[in-house]
Amino acid sequence: MATIELLLIICLSIVSSVPAARGNSEVDALNAFRHSLTDPDKVLENWDPNLVSPCTWFHVTCNEDDRVTRVDLGNSNLSGHLVPELGKLEHLQYLELYKNNIQGTIPTELGNLKSLISLDLYNNNISGKIPPSLGNLKSLVFLRLNDNRLNGPIPRVLTGIPSLKVVDVSNNNLCGTIPTSGSFEHIPSNNFENNPRLEGPELQGLATYDTNCS
Ligand SMILES: *[C@@H]1O[C@H](CO)[C@@H](O)[C@H](O)[C@H]1NC(C)=O
Ligand SMILES: *[C@@H]1O[C@H](CO)[C@@H](O)[C@H](O)[C@H]1NC(C)=O
Repeated sequence: MATIELLLIICLSIVSSVPAARGNSEVDALNAFRHSLTDPDKVLENWDPNLVSPCTWFHVTCNEDDRVTRVDLGNSNLSGHLVPELGKLEHLQYLELYKNNIQGTIPTELGNLKSLISLDLYNNNISGKIPPSLGNLKSLVFLRLNDNRLNGPIPRVLTGIPSLKVVDVSNNNLCGTIPTSGSFEHIPSNNFENNPRLEGPELQGLATYDTNCS
C-alpha cells in the first residue's frame, strides 16, 4: 500500500473517532433542558455544551464515574418546561426543581430514571396527568408534586414502589380516590388536600375509583 493511502486512512480514522470521544449524552440531555427554559437570574450560565462532561456545571453533581447524580435547581426563578431527554440521566438520584414557574407536563420518559430517589417538582405550574411510568422508579423515596395544576387520577402503580416514603400531591386538580394500599398506607391525608375532585380514602375492594375522572 502506498504511503499516501496509508496516511489518508490514518487521518480518516482519527477524524471519525473524534465525535465518539467527545459525545456525552448527559451534556446533550441537560443542554436540551436548558434550551427549554427561561433563566432570568442566569443560574445556568456556566452550562457549556462544549465540555466533555457536565460535572463542572453549577447545580449539577456527578459520581466518581462522571455520571450525573443530582440536578439542584430549586427556587431558581426558572420558567419553561421539562423535556423527555431528562429520562436519559440514568444515574440521576435527585431531581430538585421545586419553587420555579415550570409549565407543561411531566414527560413519560422520567419513568426511565431507574436510580431516582427524589422527584421534587412542587410549587410550579405543571399540568396534565401524573404519568403511570413513574411506577417504574423502584428507588424512589420522595415524590413531591404538590402546588401545581395536575389533573387525572393518582396512578395505582405508585402504591407498588416499596421504597416510597413521602408523597405530597396537595393543591392540584387530581380526581378519583386516594390510594390506601402498599406504600400509600402511611401517607397522611394532608398530603392529598385541596384537590376538589379527589375523593377518599378509597375503600378496599371497591374498584370504582376512576369513575368521572379523566
Ligand atoms: C425572577 O425573574 C423575573 C424576570 O422574569 C425578575 O423580574 C425577578 O426579579 C426575578 N426574581 C428573583 C427573586 O430573582
Ligand atoms: C401557568 O401556566 C398557564 C399556561 O399553562 C399560564 O396561562 C399561566 O399564566 C401560568 N401561571 C403563572 C403564575 O405563570
